[in-house]
Amino acid sequence: MGRIIVAIDGHSSCGKSTMAKTLARRIGYTYVDTGAMYRAVTLFAIRNGLFTADGIDTSTLAQEMENIHISFRYDAEGRQVTVLNGEDVEKDIRGMEVSGKVSPISAIDFVRARLVERQRSLGAEKGVVMDGRDIGTVVYPDAELKIFVTATDRVRAQRRLDELKAKGSDVTFSEVLKNVQERDYIDSHREISPLKQASDAIVLDNSNMSIEEQDEWLYDRFLKASGQA
Ligand code: DC
Repeated sequence: MGRIIVAIDGHSSCGKSTMAKTLARRIGYTYVDTGAMYRAVTLFAIRNGLFTADGIDTSTLAQEMENIHISFRYDAEGRQVTVLNGEDVEKDIRGMEVSGKVSPISAIDFVRARLVERQRSLGAEKGVVMDGRDIGTVVYPDAELKIFVTATDRVRAQRRLDELKAKGSDVTFSEVLKNVQERDYIDSHREISPLKQASDAIVLDNSNMSIEEQDEWLYDRFLKASGQA
C-alpha cells in the first residue's frame, strides 16, 4: 500500500496534535493542524472587530473569507507555525482570547465549508496526518486510519494549564477547566459537523498514558493500517 491518510479526531487538549506531529515526523508525512485554521479565522475576526455586542458580524466575515489565507511553515527551530496572510500568528492563536472565541466561529457553515475545502486540497496527494474534530467523519470519511482520542476533562485541563504556564500565562486551573468544558459542549452540540466518533475509528483514551506510550501505540496502528505490519 502507498501513502495513506491518517485522521485524528477528539476532544480539545487531549494531546492529539502532539501525537499527530510526532507520527508525521517519524513517517515523513505532512502534518495538518485543522484547529489552527479555525483559530486563525477567529484571530482575523477579533482583529477586524467582527465580534460585536450583538454577536459575530457574519455578513462581513462571509465577504472577508476570500481575504483570509492560511498556511503553515517551519520556523528557525524547525517547529511548524501557522501563517495568516503572510504573518506568523502561532503565538496569538494559542492564547485564551482566541480559545474563548473559536467555538462559535467554527460553528459557522461557510467557515467550515471553506476550511474543509482547503483541508481536502492539502491531503489530495495523501501522506498527511490531519487532526481536528471532523476529519474522519466529514473531511476524509474514507481515511485509511481513523483515531478518536479522548481523556477526562480534568486531565485535559491540567495538560493545557501546564502548557499555558510554561508560556508565562497566570491563568488558573478552574478557568482552563471551564474553557475545556465549554468547548466540549459547543463542539459536540453544534448543528454542522459536531464532534463525534466515526463508526470505524479506533478509540484511544490516553488519560493514564505517557506521551511515549501513546506515540508507540499510534505508530503501531499506522504500520497495520498502511500494510507494513
Ligand atoms: O484543536 P483546537 O483546540 O486547536 O481547535 C480549536 C477549535 O476549533 C475547537 O474549539 C473546535 C474547532 N475545530 C473544529 O470545529 N473542527 C476541526 N476540524 C478542528 C477544530
